[in-house]
Amino acid sequence: MDGSGGIAAKTIQALMASERVRFVSAHPDAAARAGNGLPGFYQGVPMHWMRDWPMPFPMLVTSAQGATLTDSDGHVLADFCLGDTGSMFGHSPEPVRQALMAQAGRGLTYMLPTDDALAVGALLRGRFGLPHWQVATTATDANRFALRVARAVTGRGRILVFNGCYHGAVDETFVRLIDGAPVNRPGLLGQFTDLTERTRVVEFNDLPALEAALSDRTVACVITEPVLTNCCMVLPDPRFHEALRRLTRETGTLLLIDETHTISTGPGGYTRAYGLEPDMFVLGKPVAGGVAASVWGFTDEVARRLDAVRAVTPSGHSGMGTTLSANALALACMRATLEQVMTDAAYAHMEALAGHLATGLSGVIDRLGLPWHVVRVGARVEFICAPGPLRNGTEAEAAHARPLEQAIHLALLNRGVLIAPFHNMMLVCPATTGEQVDRLITAFAEVAGILAQGKTP
Ligand SMILES: Cc1ncc(COP(=O)(O)O)c(C=O)c1O
Repeated sequence: MDGSGGIAAKTIQALMASERVRFVSAHPDAAARAGNGLPGFYQGVPMHWMRDWPMPFPMLVTSAQGATLTDSDGHVLADFCLGDTGSMFGHSPEPVRQALMAQAGRGLTYMLPTDDALAVGALLRGRFGLPHWQVATTATDANRFALRVARAVTGRGRILVFNGCYHGAVDETFVRLIDGAPVNRPGLLGQFTDLTERTRVVEFNDLPALEAALSDRTVACVITEPVLTNCCMVLPDPRFHEALRRLTRETGTLLLIDETHTISTGPGGYTRAYGLEPDMFVLGKPVAGGVAASVWGFTDEVARRLDAVRAVTPSGHSGMGTTLSANALALACMRATLEQVMTDAAYAHMEALAGHLATGLSGVIDRLGLPWHVVRVGARVEFICAPGPLRNGTEAEAAHARPLEQAIHLALLNRGVLIAPFHNMMLVCPATTGEQVDRLITAFAEVAGILAQGKTP
């Protein structure tokens, strides 16, 4: 794997150049109003990730509904990015829209619970099986608070992550293995501590390394996604989760499963589908249908130990919570999402269409003889421009073919489909139609066909 995706650089450059021209000429309004960046914003965007898209300048979104997004130049796109999972259940699902409208006239945040909060506690217990829950605003926050609890109840200062992980802007998770050595993740700004002093990092699926890293019993918590989705997608080996649970239990280490992306698996996430038994569980992004909210839950045992620690801790700030966490609007939208949007029927639809999408993309790759593969976790599908399956973060990093991926993303966009900018992730939501999936497969076939002409031996 050399990051080329098996395609000659000049073929990729030619595709990128022609797609840029096509994008610019098709977006006169965005070019006029945002071509040099949005005035007032550093680097011309309200959040710097908005620069990570492959287009020469951002298009301006005028509306989005279900799986369809419309821009200011009148393009109507099939949206498979879905706000990088924030809108995984579609843009403005009707029950969420209604909850939002109803709450709008009743006050939005008052740091007191509501009837919706009464309902949501029971809904979370019922769906995810853990008895104790807290609400935060982002998955980052939820992870941060859960890790704090893990350290508090174990009295241990370290955590362990898997190479290639992403759990949001949680400082202590920004560690990578480079040439086998742990280092602060490249690219971090303003990082003034050596994170590797407190964070151990091993490869996903490497059980001997995991066992060795936990053996001195100084690690409070292993935090992981059940499937690594934030590098190119890496699936667990068949016995990986069983061994992870056994090793964490044997060493008194807590296990935090972050389902923020793998909630694509099914109504109870990967955890329920595969019978995982985490001590702590985090879900953010789509849990309130696109309104900022996240949840984190834990077992009776963790709650009991937390009570014991709190009983001997002087009163003061816990370091957990932010002012708008669990606000009334978020709880109203979360209730609507859990009760009416994340339904079995919605998941059945997503699963079926995502299966169709994965089969269609694999068929194109096979037909063209490209050295690529497709991975899927429920409604989350990814094509990877390298042979598979990938087994860990190092392999996933090597599989990234960035210039190629960017050219493909832009070419797909110019053909009416939007996929996530960071890697080749596509999400199917309850509103996605068969026509939209077929449009994506057709566009992918056309673009891959152009690229296949530059296949390297
Ligand atoms: C698995 C996982 N956890 C946490 C996060 C952080 O989410 P947020 O940026 O909403 O805090 C992400 C974001 O991509 C994620 O993929």
